[in-house]
This record gives sequence, C-alpha cells and structure tokens, in this order.
Amino acid sequence: MSRAVVLGTGSCLPKRTMTNADLEKIVETSNDWITVRTGIKERRIAGPGEETSKLAAEAARRALEMAGVSAEEIGMIVVGTMTCEKAMPSCACLVQKEIGAVNAFAMDVNAACSGFLYGIDVAEKYIKADPALKVLVIGAENLSARTNWEDRATCILFGDGAGAVVMTGESGERGLIGTRLFSDGSLWHLLHMDCAPSLNPDLVADDYQGPYIRMAGQEVFKYAVRAMQDGVKKVLEQENIDPKSVNLVIPHQANIRILNSLTDRLGIPTEKIYINVYKYGNTSAASMPIALDEANREGRLKSGDIVLFCAFGGGFTWGASLMRW
Ligand code: ACO
Repeated sequence: MSRAVVLGTGSCLPKRTMTNADLEKIVETSNDWITVRTGIKERRIAGPGEETSKLAAEAARRALEMAGVSAEEIGMIVVGTMTCEKAMPSCACLVQKEIGAVNAFAMDVNAACSGFLYGIDVAEKYIKADPALKVLVIGAENLSARTNWEDRATCILFGDGAGAVVMTGESGERGLIGTRLFSDGSLWHLLHMDCAPSLNPDLVADDYQGPYIRMAGQEVFKYAVRAMQDGVKKVLEQENIDPKSVNLVIPHQANIRILNSLTDRLGIPTEKIYINVYKYGNTSAASMPIALDEANREGRLKSGDIVLFCAFGGGFTWGASLMRW
C-alpha cells in the first residue's frame, strides 16, 4: 500500500526577536502576566525581505535540501496561510517563482491555524492518486503585519515564521496513517480578521475596525481544548491506535495552557509533547511545520515512531493526524 511520506523538513524564522520585555514598552503588560497565561517568552517579528512568501520559500529550500529533491521535481505546492503579503496571486505561486519549481501547480489553503494540517491532507489525496508526485506543503505567516499593536489581549500572542515538508508516495508502513478534519463556521465571530476595507461603498461594513486579528480569548481557549481532544480521540479510534503507542505529539503551538489542558485530558505525558511556543509564540499555520522541523533536526523522531499532529484555529477549524515516521 502506498502512503504519503515526508522526505525532508525545513523552517525559516525572521531574524528579529521581540521579548516580553520589549512588549512591556508597547502595551500595558508584564513578562510575568504573559509567561503565566501563555508560556510565551519571545517571538520573531519579520523585517524587510522576510515577507510571508520569502520565509515560505526559504523553509521550502531547506526542506528540499534535506529531501535531496530539486525544485524542478516538485509537482504541487500547497501553502497554509492567512497572511500572505498579496491576496493574489497565492503565496504558493510566489513560492513557486522564488524557488524555480517550474513544473508545479500551486495553491493556498486558508484554514487559519489548522492550515498545515489541512495542507498535508490535501497533499495526501493527490499523492494517493499519483504516488510519484512530489509535493511541498508549507505553513507560513506574518501575523505581526495583521496584529493590533494597541490590543494587549492579542499582540502578546503572535509571531512570524514558516515551515515546510516535502512529501511523496512510498509503499510500506511509513507515512500518513489517517487524518480527521473538522470546521464550524457558525463560530467564526470568536476568532477572525477582516480584509482591507471595501472599496465598494455599498459593501463597507458598519462595524469595520481595521484588518486585525480579533478574538474572544476565553471562548477560544475552551473550544480549542475540547475540539482538539475530540479530534485526537476520533483519529486514534479511526486508526485503532492506542494513545500509549504515540511517540511524539506535535501540536499547534497556541499557548502552553491550552497544551497542558489538552495533554491532561488525553493522558499523554508531557515529555511526549514537542513544545517551542515559549520562543516563537503562536505562528498559526507555520507552528506545526516549524515544530516538526526542529524535532526532526534534534533527532527526536526515530524510524517507525508514531507522530500525532493536532491543530485548532479560526473558522473554527480543527483536526488531528497520525503519521508513522
Ligand atoms: N497583560 C496584562 N493584563 C492583560 C493582558 C496583558 N497582555 N491581556 C489582558 N489582560 C487583563 C485583562 O484586561 C483582564 O483584566 P481585568 O480582570 O481587570 O478585566 C485580565 O487580564 C484577565 O483577562 P482575560 O481575558 O480574562 O485573561 P485570560 O486568563 O483569559 O487570558 C488569554 C487571556 C491568554 C488570551 C487566554 O484567554 C487564552 O489563552 N486564550 C486562548 C487564545 C489563543 O490562544 N488564541 C490564539 C488563536 S487560536 C489558536 O491558535 C488556538
């Protein structure tokens, strides 16, 4: 049986680090408050030449290098993002141009923080149809460009970055085992971000406040924990896998309290959870591929390990995925 396997991983973070102490100079907050409520100590903030597509392209180059695959061999590029510097063309097309993936078709997936999870599921469907296909799946965000820097409830949470994987088909046990994806659009108002203001006077929203991320923090917290728990249980049941067999959990890095509540409920020991939210904050669709790349390069993943991915984000969107490394 042919499965979608990861051949290589890569990531790229902006050079500039913004600490909690730096944030204390921008809004009324404290390192203590941010650390206790979120686990975040610092985040990376993009500068010139570090637009979403540029970070994505660099993460892709690093993943291609590890995979030993050339850009010309890539047949498909999927980018999970909601913060590309252009609404058109897609970030995926900009990446294609940047790396010279002349034989690929390219598209974005907007599922907010679940974008990478949705991306690998889309890639798997194409790979099942054509196991020789080589796919770049990327999660990339410049959330700093869409953050209200006067809103202390949100500006402390987010950061910028990109992560990428190269996937293809392979026969054997290795690869994606199964995925469950979910959405509930009726809850969109709890976590959302408006586009640029309408240029059609008839379509200007009365309550337009700016193209920022807006969030009902406590509601998001409750749904995130419950939904990810449910997604994880469903994919484990679907694939008949005991939670104890999971070797490493790579969750969306939203905040440490969400991750602690989730692992308590799932009964998975904390040493099996990969956590880097303290140094990058919440990078939305980029957070899981960045964490995967770091775990991979640190040697945390052994051949045959079962890796569990889970995410939750605006939409709401959420889900979980199991992969044999
Ligand atoms: N610094 C200091 N005080 C603050 C800050 C801040 N940065 N932000 C809010 N406060 C104050 C509030 O004004 C409030 O003060 P008051 O009691 O005088 O009114 C007090 O702190 C408590 O505010 P809450 O909003 O109730 O704080 P809460 O404990 O809920 O923590 C937080 C806020 C961290 C946002 C939390 O709700 C949370 O983690 N939510 C999940 C949100 C999340 O992770 N979203 C990411 C996108 S979704 C995803 O990726 C899964």
